[in-house]
Amino acid sequence: MINTIIPYGKQNITKEDIDAVVSALQSDYLTQGPKINEFEVEFAKYVGSKYAVVVSNGTAALHLCTLALGVKEGDKVITTPITFAASANCVRYCNGEVVFVDIDPSTYLLDIEKVRTLLENAPIGTYKGIIPVDFAGRAVDLEAFRKLADEYNLWIIEDACHAPGGYFEDSKSNIQKCGNGNFADLAIFSFHPVKHIACGEGGMVTTNDETLYKKLLALRTHGITKNELEFSNSVEFACGHATESEQFPGWYMEMQTLGFNYRLTDFQAALGSSQLKRADEGLIKRRAIASNYSKAFKDAQFIKGQSGFVAGHAYHLYIIEVENRLGLYKHLRENKVFAQIHYIPCHLMPYYRQLGWKEGDFLHAESYYKGCISLPMYPTLTINEQNYVVQLINFFYGI
Ligand SMILES: Cc1ncc(COP(=O)(O)O)c(C=O)c1O
Repeated sequence: MINTIIPYGKQNITKEDIDAVVSALQSDYLTQGPKINEFEVEFAKYVGSKYAVVVSNGTAALHLCTLALGVKEGDKVITTPITFAASANCVRYCNGEVVFVDIDPSTYLLDIEKVRTLLENAPIGTYKGIIPVDFAGRAVDLEAFRKLADEYNLWIIEDACHAPGGYFEDSKSNIQKCGNGNFADLAIFSFHPVKHIACGEGGMVTTNDETLYKKLLALRTHGITKNELEFSNSVEFACGHATESEQFPGWYMEMQTLGFNYRLTDFQAALGSSQLKRADEGLIKRRAIASNYSKAFKDAQFIKGQSGFVAGHAYHLYIIEVENRLGLYKHLRENKVFAQIHYIPCHLMPYYRQLGWKEGDFLHAESYYKGCISLPMYPTLTINEQNYVVQLINFFYGI
């Protein structure tokens, strides 16, 4: 028996992280200062994208994406039911229509063949975009999704909240990192404490598209621009009186579209930058834990499915599918292991049921939900703790 709770996910805050935050707190800027751009540049470099825009959380990142892509009332957007609700909700924020499509039971990711069938059976122009999710940290094959999306003129938002550092191999055996912008129009990340990089709250949008990048920057801050070249009012108006000058005064700015305050603070960005330095180290540890779990449960009869050991997987979660999941969940809790369930299918949330979705819509997602459980997975999980988790599970199933 252990003394402390083993959660399914946990942040790791070091002295360097604390020093970085303290130094930001002691600087001249608590928000809108230099730490923001520093974090953006470092993060873009890490994932391999041209641009990055840091925001207050992953949900805000998704909302900015649907706004920047111009989602409007009735626009149909495809996503997976096995995700956190925000992946779908961002469509609803713009009054679009969420169209769920089932998962592939072997990867737990949005099933591209089912998406293809849906698109083939609808008039061209019916759907506007796809939001594939690198669920649990497993990278979606975005090359394949891009090809399909191009046939139907769809945009792609990659929800990479679970997968900083994750990758897939493309058809030419090139490594394609999650969020690198080579295939998706936009990608988003979350810096909630259970994620790879913790800011407390925080999110990021990455893209290679300059036009979208500029839209995101404006939308993050009330739709305001300070760029003279974009101003639409006259210099006279800006100055408040007739003037010979062609210069806009220093204070002048324009709110040109309806935006939000989705900014991150400088001290959170400082924490993010500091955490990012250890991102690869954390990933190595996550992959080692996944390898242990995968070996431990390789031949177990009670395992109906599991994340397994997959190249490029970023292992935000390690999932097993079992019989009597409720019993196992309780047994683990009684022994201080707080495993978690990811996710209750989104289409069966009361909000989405009320929009017409119902049980039986998605065989694989619903069957997955009945057995899935996410085991503890975070870089500081010790080998003893991993063994303890495995022993508890084996004991529960009589092994
Ligand atoms: C797949 C996925 N998308 C979006 C989000 C939203 O991120 P945040 O909690 O930072 O708003 C999360 C967070 O849990 C997530 O797991």
